[in-house]
Amino acid sequence: MLSHLLRLHGVDSIVLESRSRDYVEDRVRAGVLEHPTVDLLCRYGLGDRLKQIGLMHDGIWLSFGGVRHFIDMKELTAGRCITVYGQNEVIRDLIQARLDAGAEIAFEVEDLSVHDLASATPKIRYTHNGVAHEVVCDFIAGCDGFHGVCRPSIPAGVLSVYERAYPFAWLGVLAEAAPSSHQLVYTHHERGFALFSMRSPKVTRLYLQVDPEENIANWPDHRVWEELRVRMTTRDGWSPNSGPITQKSITPMRSFVVEPMQYGNLFLAGDAAHIVPPTGAKGMNLAIADVAILARAFCEFYGNGRRVLLDQYSETCLQRVWKVQRFSWWMTSLLHRNARESPFDHRRQLADLDYIVTSRAAMTTLAENYVGLPLDGY
Ligand code: PHB
Repeated sequence: MLSHLLRLHGVDSIVLESRSRDYVEDRVRAGVLEHPTVDLLCRYGLGDRLKQIGLMHDGIWLSFGGVRHFIDMKELTAGRCITVYGQNEVIRDLIQARLDAGAEIAFEVEDLSVHDLASATPKIRYTHNGVAHEVVCDFIAGCDGFHGVCRPSIPAGVLSVYERAYPFAWLGVLAEAAPSSHQLVYTHHERGFALFSMRSPKVTRLYLQVDPEENIANWPDHRVWEELRVRMTTRDGWSPNSGPITQKSITPMRSFVVEPMQYGNLFLAGDAAHIVPPTGAKGMNLAIADVAILARAFCEFYGNGRRVLLDQYSETCLQRVWKVQRFSWWMTSLLHRNARESPFDHRRQLADLDYIVTSRAAMTTLAENYVGLPLDGY
């Protein structure tokens, strides 16, 4: 996305990817685009497939005590909605757009390292198709995820780390089953959280809260369906449709932020700088907001020779990052069963849920965060 935005302003970049093109285009990850993310993708020429196959949702269901409650986000936020469109589809569109524009993307690069980050000529070394390369550049954008090389290449003592681990994980499955609800259903149940989502009119995406140490071998398909039905079936008889499971994985949950998101001429964006638990569906949206801010700062530098926006990059991003961290933590705490908490906490959690579905003010708070805080001016 950053490379795409830079190109629109005449700034050259090279994209280095450690995985293969097929891997990044097929790997199922997040699926919910905020309103500002959709606006941004459409405004910069990436909206064609998104408008064709993306599923626009006006709201979400919150389910607890066997009853579903609809949160009408569109009505509560003066017309803003979310769009269900897989992260891998966004990646597919971006790769196509970059290749159509003649961009340089190297897939399956190996042994990548970054050097001289505080100098005016930072360098990236890597191997591609068995040949060693060195790129000397003005800036490096570390968009290489939580496990990437950029953040650990910053000298010790520069970054402050803020984090929280949660005592649960998500078991996610993709099933060849027509979604039985048009909108997402977030369920709080005695036995733990469950989430109903989808990827297309024929594919359902489902998640179950499990122990972080859980072994996926303990979850044969029939057990997954049984548990999903126990947690999700509502008193009016609603439950997910079942079908062959085509993918199954367990993802740990964590909140993580480093400050600042910059060192010298290295700028961190997305999961390289921060992780959110998936309950608020924010990870990809936050990464896209970071690079919109970074692209603007680079363009200001190349257009007007001014570094001011680059110098403010970290501060500008972190204002949004912390608000989204707060929301993701809140949604996670609201909906999961936490074995470390007391019966008091559980009663308080149920009261919180009841308050949300009975107070327009509380519903509006949820809705305006869920559809995405404004990303003005990008
Ligand atoms: C998904 O469809 O993968 C999804 C939806 C909502 C979330 C997280 C994941 O909060």
